Amino acid sequence: MSAKTPLFDALKKYAATSRGYFRIPGHRFERGINSELIDYAGKNIFKLDVTETPLTDDLHHPGNVIAESQRITAEAFGADESFYLVNGTTCGNESMVMASASEGEKIIVPRNAHKSVMAGLILSGARPIYFPVDYLEYPGLQAGLSAAKVEEVLKTEPDCKAVFAVSPTYHGLCSDISSIAETAHKKGIPLLVDEAHGAHCYFSELLPNTALAQNADACAQSLHKVAGALTQSSLLHLKSTLIDRGRLDSALRLTMSTSPSYILMTSLEMAVADLIENGGKFWEGAVEMAEALRERIGKIPGLTCLHEELIGRASVVDKDPTRIIVNFDGIDVTGYLIKKMLYDEFQIDAEMADSRNVLFIITFGNSAEECGRLVSALSALSARFPKKDPGKHLKSGIPPIPSMELTPRQAYFSASKPVAWEKAVGLISAEMIAPYPPGIPILYPGERITRDIYEFVRSMKSEGRHFHGPADHSLEYLRVCN
Ligand SMILES: Cc1ncc(COP(=O)(O)O)c(C=O)c1O
Repeated sequence: MSAKTPLFDALKKYAATSRGYFRIPGHRFERGINSELIDYAGKNIFKLDVTETPLTDDLHHPGNVIAESQRITAEAFGADESFYLVNGTTCGNESMVMASASEGEKIIVPRNAHKSVMAGLILSGARPIYFPVDYLEYPGLQAGLSAAKVEEVLKTEPDCKAVFAVSPTYHGLCSDISSIAETAHKKGIPLLVDEAHGAHCYFSELLPNTALAQNADACAQSLHKVAGALTQSSLLHLKSTLIDRGRLDSALRLTMSTSPSYILMTSLEMAVADLIENGGKFWEGAVEMAEALRERIGKIPGLTCLHEELIGRASVVDKDPTRIIVNFDGIDVTGYLIKKMLYDEFQIDAEMADSRNVLFIITFGNSAEECGRLVSALSALSARFPKKDPGKHLKSGIPPIPSMELTPRQAYFSASKPVAWEKAVGLISAEMIAPYPPGIPILYPGERITRDIYEFVRSMKSEGRHFHGPADHSLEYLRVCN
């Protein structure tokens, strides 16, 4: 491999020294690992699981191999500086919020932000100025963020400290980040982008434009979602003078483990090395595979595979071609049931479903054989359900944003009590409610529960959706502020 991998090299060198080892971790390389696990996983992976030593550096104060590894990553992504994250994009989002807005300060947050942004709001005490995301009535998805709306919000709330944005979305829908960045910069404030689903876009012309190329000030990316890094391995990039680097660094030290996994960090380094060397080729193959798949699924009666028709609507300026959105409005079945049947009967795992659509993700790790199986399974399923009466389309939409009576932090720490969900309308929630996946809160702590929210959540409950947030996962009860 010609891309440099200083951390992996140092770890191999460290393992080769066969030191007497009297420190953490306790398993002493492979010696203390359960033998069945070793039989299955192999020995060498455990030799990478070491801790901070003069040879292996320290993520919280990098000075040699981790610093060099992060520098190589920054160069690959076009950032001023990059940070390895071992608690996922979750800690990247939390840290971006914490670095930009403190107790009582305002930050613009779109209503499609992941629940980790809410965690950042609770940690920082910042006051969110929520704004609605444009909605695609067909196929029933939250879509893009309009720069004009951000500008409007900034006119009424001129003292905002930062703008937060999500692009691409889980479904690969991209907003005009460049115009949103320009709007934020006119006010001298940074644009923070949750790019959890976009790290691969930096390595192929066939994929949408990236946050950093469009002048975002910072972005967090789940490399584990879109490339060869292990689960929890993410990146945070900084390219700005509008963010206090010291505060960002300090927030990262607060939100990340003091024992960051060297296996995860190495997986980040090696995934980036692969992207540097082979990203263009890998992603060209993935896009080609996704296009062929889309064409085949599009021919199945009753199914529609959505892509180009979404661009140019609801502030969507581009779409990641490797996110395959299949809409089932043409036949009488829900996306949830299709996802379940694919899993139960066809050994196929889809990423996510809603009542009308199922999302499939293609990466360079997929095979033509898997795609063929998916097409056969969807054809078999399509034949099982009758055509849907067009008048019977499921109504979808997102309820209007409720009024914020307390900041998320105030509500989270306030005295609270459980009330039956049936009796919650009109009360102030102490918890968030985020249907999962995707983990986008529909109700934040501190918001007054409206009849619309109540009905929306009730219909999701009846569809068997899971919720993150409430202590009572079944949502029979919700905690409300006293
Ligand atoms: C848009 C978005 N942001 C952030 C996250 C959190 O990322 P991670 O799982 O890497 O912590 C997710 C996870 O699904 C996500 O979809």
